[in-house]
Amino acid sequence: MSKKTQPKLKEYISEDKISKRINKLANKLNKDYRDKNPIFIGILNGSFIFLADLIREIKIDCEIDFLKLSSYGDEKISSGNVTLLKDLNCEIENRHIIIVEDIVDSGLSVNFIKNLIEEHKPASLRFVTLLFKKDISKLTFKIDYIGFKIDNKFVVGYGLDFAQKYRNLKAIKVLKSTN
Ligand code: IMP
Ligand code: MG
Repeated sequence: MSKKTQPKLKEYISEDKISKRINKLANKLNKDYRDKNPIFIGILNGSFIFLADLIREIKIDCEIDFLKLSSYGDEKISSGNVTLLKDLNCEIENRHIIIVEDIVDSGLSVNFIKNLIEEHKPASLRFVTLLFKKDISKLTFKIDYIGFKIDNKFVVGYGLDFAQKYRNLKAIKVLKSTN
C-alpha cells in the first residue's frame, strides 16, 4: 500500500537572524545611495516580505516599483524560460536602480532582469538578494549585496513558496519530502 508523501519543514534561518542581517544590508545601502534617490525594484512574488522589511530600514529618499517574472509553476526546478508578467510603471533612464530578489538560484532570472533594465539606460544598476545558492551555474555577473549564501536546498518561508504555499512563514525553512 502506498503512503501519501508528507512535506516536512525544518528551520534553516531564524526570524532574528534575518532581521539582523537586513539591518546590516540596509545600513550599507543607506551609505552607498546617500543623495542618489534610488528606485528599489522588487521582483514579485517572492521578494515582497524582504522588500517590505528592507525598505523600512532605508533612511534616505527612495522610490519603489515591482517587476513580475514567470514562476517555477509547481516545480522545484526552473523551466529555464524566463518571461515578463508585469512591467515597470516608472521611468528608469538615468536613475539609480536596485533590484531586490528573494533568492538567486540558477541565476537565469537575474540575467534576464539585467538585460531588461540595461536597455533603458539607468545611471546605475545593482542587485540585492536575501539568499544566494552557492552552487549557482548560469549567473553571468556578480551580485552586489547578499543576505545569506546557502547550500543547494529548496527553501520556503519569508516570501518564498513551494506551489504558492508557505510564503507566510516568518522564518526560512527547508522543505523535505518524507514518506
Ligand atoms: P533562478 O532564475 O533559478 O535564479 O531562480 C530565481 C527564482 O526562483 C527566485 O526568485 C525564486 O522565486 C525561485 N526559487 C529559486 N530557488 C528557490 C527555493 O529554494 N525556494 C523557493 N523559490 C525558489
Ligand atoms: Mg522570485
